[in-house]
Amino acid sequence: MRLGVLASGRGSNLRNLVERGFEVVAVATNRPSCGAAALARERSLPLGEFSQSSYASVEERDRAMRDWLRAQGVELVINAGYDRILSRDFITAFEGRIVNVHPSLLPAFGGGMDAVAQALAHGVKVTGCTVHLVTEEVDAGPILLQEAVPVLPGDDVGSLHARIQVEEHRLLPEGIRLIEERLAQGASLR
Ligand code: GRF
Repeated sequence: MRLGVLASGRGSNLRNLVERGFEVVAVATNRPSCGAAALARERSLPLGEFSQSSYASVEERDRAMRDWLRAQGVELVINAGYDRILSRDFITAFEGRIVNVHPSLLPAFGGGMDAVAQALAHGVKVTGCTVHLVTEEVDAGPILLQEAVPVLPGDDVGSLHARIQVEEHRLLPEGIRLIEERLAQGASLR
């Protein structure tokens, strides 16, 4: 399945997908200087740069991104550390075909960029990661897969996030395969 990956950060999930042989046909970023964009250039993956400063509104930026992803023939959109909320038109254009990976056991610690810090601040003993479909309500779409991760004494955001990412790198590919199977069976994803 032709994947379009949206990313704003380090790009470890993107790297993992590429190294596992997934068909990444497009990488879109709002931060051209991020690690994910550097990786796309290094691997000669088609890279779409959609800095907000180049567009008059979020909607306009998302329309450009939607059109570019469609032109690349993207069948499934993967939010792999994309740090912006997608506009309604974008979500409608790829309805049921946008997957997000979030570093907590949703619905706990959703709706923000600091899920790992929130988990530490709350003193939870177990957190984890979630792979879910993206709907208009942030971090609230149907859950496909989750994995629990222990919080260990002495953890900081870096150490806990690293432990969570080990699981993300297993769970996101599994979620994509699950979707591929469901679509192959003609099932609706939602
Ligand atoms: C991941 O932890 C993901 O759950 C969150 O952003 C992070 C992206 O990491 N949404 P990376 O850029 O793929 O390394």
